[in-house]
Amino acid sequence: MSKKDNLIAEKLPRHIAIIMDGNGRWAKEQGKDRLFGHYSGVESVRNIVEGSAELGIQYLTLYAFSTENWDRPKDEVSGLMELLVQTIRKEVPTLNKNNIRLHVIGNFEMLPALAQKELDDACKETEKNSGLNLVMALSYSSRWEIIEAVKNISKKIKEGKLDPENITEDTFKNYLCTATIPDPELMIRTSGEYRISNFLLYQMAYAELYFTDTLWPDFRKENLYDALLDYQNRERRFGKTSEQL
Ligand code: IPE
Ligand code: IPE
Ligand code: MG
Repeated sequence: MSKKDNLIAEKLPRHIAIIMDGNGRWAKEQGKDRLFGHYSGVESVRNIVEGSAELGIQYLTLYAFSTENWDRPKDEVSGLMELLVQTIRKEVPTLNKNNIRLHVIGNFEMLPALAQKELDDACKETEKNSGLNLVMALSYSSRWEIIEAVKNISKKIKEGKLDPENITEDTFKNYLCTATIPDPELMIRTSGEYRISNFLLYQMAYAELYFTDTLWPDFRKENLYDALLDYQNRERRFGKTSEQL
C-alpha cells in the first residue's frame, strides 16, 4: 500500500498552509545561484498543488514571499518577483483546467503596478472555479496584516459605524486578508527551520505544526503524505482533556 492509501479521507485537514523554505540552500548545495533554487521550487509548487487537489483539500496557502524578503539583495528580489508573477500568469490555464481558484494575500502596494494587475487578472480569471482554493501569500506578513486590520477597525469606530463593545473574534477575522478562508489545521515548514517567520500568526492559533528537513525544491507529494499521516495521528484537544473529546 502506498502512503496515499493510508490516509483517512475524513481526517484530512480542510486547509494546509506551507512555508516553502530552503530554495537558496538547495541551490548552494549544487553550486548554483540562489535564483536557480527558486526556479526549481516552482516544480514543487506544481506537484503539491496537484497532490492537494487530488486529495480534495479545500484550501492550500503557500508562503511565497514575505514583507521581510523585500530586504534581500536587489537582484534576488527582482528575479524572484518576476518568477512569481510570470509563473502565476502562465499557470492560469492549468488552474482553470483543474478547477482551482487562485487567491493572493499580502501587501500589494509594495508590488509594481503591472504585477498587481497581472495578479488581479489571474484571480479574476479563476474566480468561478469551485475545487481547491490556492492562496498565494505574496509580500505578506502577519504583523502587517494585523496592523492593517486594527487601522481599518479604528476607522470604522471613528466613523461611528462600529461599537468597540461589539468586536468579537468574528468581527476581527473579517478585517484580515483571510476573511473568507478557514484557519489552517496543518502548517508545514520545509528546510529544518523551526519558526513561523511572520506567517498567519493569528490564524494558526490551533494549527498542528509539522517541520521537515527536506528542502522545498525536493518536496513532493510523498512528503505531503508523510505530513498528513503525522497530522492524522495527532490528538487535537483545543484546551480540553483527552476524555472530553
Ligand atoms: C524560500 O527559500 C523562498 C523564499 C523565502 C522566497 P529561501 O530563499 O529562503 O532559501 P534559504 O532558506 O535561504 O535556503
Ligand atoms: C519565510 O522564509 C518566508 C517564505 C518562505 C516566503 P525565510 O527564509 O524568509 O525565513 P527566515 O528568514 O529564515 O525566518
Ligand atoms: Mg529561507
